[in-house]
Amino acid sequence: MTVLAVSATPLVAPPLPEGRPNLVLAGFMGTGKTTVGRAAAAELALPFLDTDDSITTARGRSISAIFAEESETGLRRYEAAAVADAARLSATVVATGGGAPLDRDGFAALARSGVTVVLRAGATELARRLGASWERPLLMSGGEHRVAELLQARSPVYEALGGRLETEGRRLGAIVDEAVARYRSSAPAGPLRLEIACGGEAPTRVIVGDGAISESASALRDALPGARRAAVVADGAVIASHAADVSEVLRAAGIEPVGPFGLPPGEAAKHVDVLATLWDRFHEAGLDPSAAVVAVGGGAALDVAGFAAATYARGIRLVNVPTTVLAMADAAVGGKVAIDHAGAKNLVGVFHPAVLVIADTSTCATLPPAVRRQGLAEIVKCLVLIAPTALEVAADASLAWGIEQALRAKAAFVSADPRDRGIRRALNLGHTFAHAIESASSHTVAHGDAVAIGLVAAARLGARLGMCDAALADRVATVLEHLGLPTAAPALDPSLLRRALAADKKRAGGAVRFIVPAPGGAALVSGVDAGAALGSLRP
Ligand SMILES: NC(=O)c1ccc[n+]([C@@H]2O[C@H](COP(=O)([O-])OP(=O)(O)OC[C@H]3O[C@@H](n4cnc5c(N)ncnc54)[C@H](O)[C@@H]3O)[C@@H](O)[C@H]2O)c1
Repeated sequence: MTVLAVSATPLVAPPLPEGRPNLVLAGFMGTGKTTVGRAAAAELALPFLDTDDSITTARGRSISAIFAEESETGLRRYEAAAVADAARLSATVVATGGGAPLDRDGFAALARSGVTVVLRAGATELARRLGASWERPLLMSGGEHRVAELLQARSPVYEALGGRLETEGRRLGAIVDEAVARYRSSAPAGPLRLEIACGGEAPTRVIVGDGAISESASALRDALPGARRAAVVADGAVIASHAADVSEVLRAAGIEPVGPFGLPPGEAAKHVDVLATLWDRFHEAGLDPSAAVVAVGGGAALDVAGFAAATYARGIRLVNVPTTVLAMADAAVGGKVAIDHAGAKNLVGVFHPAVLVIADTSTCATLPPAVRRQGLAEIVKCLVLIAPTALEVAADASLAWGIEQALRAKAAFVSADPRDRGIRRALNLGHTFAHAIESASSHTVAHGDAVAIGLVAAARLGARLGMCDAALADRVATVLEHLGLPTAAPALDPSLLRRALAADKKRAGGAVRFIVPAPGGAALVSGVDAGAALGSLRP
């Protein structure tokens, strides 16, 4: 490809806020980590991740082939990456390879992410169970003697982890029940609570999970000290349903709900006339600076209601109650509020972080399928940034799980860079391509669909620049397709695509910048010829 002087700035994912705990299964080969893990995951309704599987999927080869071609050292390197990615997830049942705990520091990070259960059995029993698996690289032709030898060498490492669970002579069901009980006893019930520094005066508190609205009365009281009244501003599609629930919980918190004030559904709300109407309504209702705005709806409703809160009475407090996947995964956290103007999206806006975000994942049940699906692209984007080897988990996980991961990822980048001047730009992964596709298609390709196509293109560009694995683009595409998202760009006029990139370049101060997947997260690359970059829209 034609490449000018390409410069790359690494955007390494910062530490993530703690989520719900993982259940981590460790132990010698043959102790049943995968079988127990899969059954425990089903029982707990959590996704299951087998780090050996994630290595074979990411490398496109079996563990034995990797061992044969790259020796044990090569395998351990991939294992370390898979364990590190698993440690960045939350609420996941993780079965680890038998050798994973040998990397003590790496495994310690995974162990800190949740509850570790170390499955155990004696050498004779393990040799019996492994009877059919002598092709395992470390056992090759060694038989029971080799099992005993390896087990003895590794036992101190497993013992040091604690959490031992005996499997010998016990039924599978009993082993699974015990692992599940240990997890449940240390996993707090109810929605997850996070606190994020977003650059505002107070941190943004976040409650995320099914049923979060009904459990938010005390969080509302804590986040809005001194507030007696709050204006409820809601997207028209949710005013009678989710906004009514919000008004009820405000009353339970001792805060009088004012309104609800309805907004035109979707993007039409982000208009200066709608903003002015909100100012009028707040004024007529006699809202004073001690009041708050509670925004209920998708990203569009949150953007305009947030802008009204930022500007009314020189700024009053904001609570966001996102009701779309995109708004939960992206728009509700991070402080950006804006309206569209003169035909330009988000032309006029400010930073005004919410003091509280209530992400009740059950509100997504009423979403039109296309709106729901388009939000999933942002979740996949976040997984590419924080745990690329574990990407495939997204394909079968619940929506609540995906939103939890996306919110934690967004929180990490926003806390590290609240004003979006540096590392937070990683969150634009896929978006340069997406904006070009939206613009060149006259917005007939929806934003979420364009982001999906853009993520695959960004991974292809990253691979062409040698910044990420060549296999990543296909893996991202497979997951997105499984979620019903498009991954191939429609036929678009190349001159329109180039024009869109040129407009982006002007906005970015003279250089088209792409975010591509890179070790540890992403990298911002500039200096790539636009035509060559657009070639990444095709395999
Ligand atoms: N501020 C930020 O950081 C940020 C980040 C990303 C996107 N955004 C903005 O978000 C907007 C897109 O947000 P979106 O994808 O949520 O779309 P949206 O707000 O336009 O909502 C999409 C549709 O879903 C309907 N809807 C919302 N919740 C519903 C529910 N629970 N049940 C049924 N219908 C429901 C709406 O009426 C609308 O028709 C864009 O304007 C974008 O600029 C802002």
